[in-house]
Amino acid sequence: MAVIPVDIAGHPYEVRVEAGLLAELVPNCRGLLRKREVAIVTDANVHALWGEVIEAALRDHGHEPHWRILPAGEQTKAWDTLAATVDWLLELGIERGDHVLALGGGVIGDLTGFAAAILKRGCGFIQLPTTLLAQVDSSVGGKTAINTAAGKNLVGAFHQPALVLADLAALDTLPQRELLAGYAEVVKYGLIGDADFFAWCEENGAALLAGDARAREYAVAHSVGHKARIVAEDERETTGVRALLNLGHTFGHALEAETGYSSGLLHGEAVAIGMVLAARYSARRGLMPKVSAERIARHLEAMGIRSELSTLQLDCSGEALAAHMLHDKKMDAGTLPFVLMKGVGQAYLDKNISLDDVSQFLGEELAG
Ligand code: NAD
Ligand code: GLY
Repeated sequence: MAVIPVDIAGHPYEVRVEAGLLAELVPNCRGLLRKREVAIVTDANVHALWGEVIEAALRDHGHEPHWRILPAGEQTKAWDTLAATVDWLLELGIERGDHVLALGGGVIGDLTGFAAAILKRGCGFIQLPTTLLAQVDSSVGGKTAINTAAGKNLVGAFHQPALVLADLAALDTLPQRELLAGYAEVVKYGLIGDADFFAWCEENGAALLAGDARAREYAVAHSVGHKARIVAEDERETTGVRALLNLGHTFGHALEAETGYSSGLLHGEAVAIGMVLAARYSARRGLMPKVSAERIARHLEAMGIRSELSTLQLDCSGEALAAHMLHDKKMDAGTLPFVLMKGVGQAYLDKNISLDDVSQFLGEELAG
């Protein structure tokens, strides 16, 4: 088992990575489940596949599971679902010292984490991430949120989990498209600050996606280690270090907004195209060699992940895409910081980018 400490001042915790953690949930929670009653929030897909495993794991140790099974999908990260989930937790009598279980992908983790953040001004929660994206990114670092009519993740809180159990066995039931979307976030860590890890991805990405257990454990543990270091240094995204995790996200969010946050374009798929756009835009500004940008696009394509904006066949202009960026929550006094690259593994935050220039670039990329 890989155990990665997340050394956040005041609330350190561990991320445990191994196949089989859910089947042995109670011992793996290491005393955090202090009452007989246990509240679990999940979605219908995950419940159908993993509900029995969790049910048995809890009952075998004398616990009584209480399930809240939400519809799968991004629309679950909404005010009404949040309110109903908080009411449900209150009815169950959850106290601050209890730990609610969030079993699922980033949608369930973000919603449950936010519910835990506001319940009685903050109760405990444990992340049980079941998608690759959630294991390498969303379950670690304490960003929790819901979406509103104005945009994605606009209402939320920083609230760290008490523990993260990333069961690699969960990836065995994950649809290939979701696995690929999560793999984009794995590649992201290489591009941000670890050229050797990007080279590892080029060598081993296909094996990881095909189910190779060692490659999966290495990639998840390595990615979590990278994220843990970043959030320990800049938990609240105030110094700019954590902002590097947004590589590809500013472009990606514009694509998600343009496609209506629909299942037509998954978050990880938008990030993949967004990372290629960030690389090409960096090359266009003379920051990194064009061949490096194309190397990134080539690797994603080779893994079966769309990397070309033009393949989305969006019926919009570069200006329209750039306009979505104006609603980005990273907007700061009229400027939008972009994560650009000086090379593979050399991401940096650039606060001097003109949106007009970006919209012209996007217009060219839309045309293919
Ligand atoms: P998701 O939670 O919607 O899960 C994707 C799909 O996979 C869903 O249909 C789900 O039911 C299904 N699924 C989950 N686990 C499964 C399993 N083991 N087997 C079969 N099916 C399974 O999406 P996601 O990609 O995990 O997360 C995306 C969300 O995460 C977005 O809302 C995004 O904003 C958020 N996010 C948050 C952070 C953060 O730091 N908090 C970081 C990145 C993304
Ligand atoms: N996924 C970006 C962050 O956690 O900061």
